[in-house]
Amino acid sequence: MTIQTVLRMGHPDLLKVADVVTEFNTEQLQTLITDMYDTMNSMNGAGLAAPQIGVSKRVVIFCVDANPRYPDVESVPDTILINPQITFLSQQQESDWEGCLSVPGLRGLVPRCNKIEYSGYDLEGKQILRTAEGFHARVVQHEVDHLDGILYPQRMADLATLGYEDVLFPDADA
Ligand code: NI
Repeated sequence: MTIQTVLRMGHPDLLKVADVVTEFNTEQLQTLITDMYDTMNSMNGAGLAAPQIGVSKRVVIFCVDANPRYPDVESVPDTILINPQITFLSQQQESDWEGCLSVPGLRGLVPRCNKIEYSGYDLEGKQILRTAEGFHARVVQHEVDHLDGILYPQRMADLATLGYEDVLFPDADA
């Protein structure tokens, strides 16, 4: 179990375009993914991208299952997604609150496409292909943005909605 330090906004590595993974099922990739899970779970995150722990590879994980950080949202399947691609299936955008382990303590309203198809590979190199809506689609877009050096404040339409979570949601349990 290795909990890694999550880089915070301002670190130049968070702004890099990450490298495509060319070899699957390697010990190095397995270790990276284990570290990502240990790190994400230690911080109650909904997702994590490899660049957030300083590894410039196109690997993301996400899982939403009764997460105390997002008490009102639907669950999202526990997924390891390597070299992801997104196709937008709707012209419609929806705004909802996002947070990020690299932007601790803050939340902001982010417009995202509400229906997508996404594809990628698992640890063994087996293809994953899914459609997703709502919060599931949002999480995937947020994580894949990390692979292109984009943090959610860069996607916000109105920075006036960026705020500290305990101020925005004073009654939340988390
Ligand atoms: Ni994030």
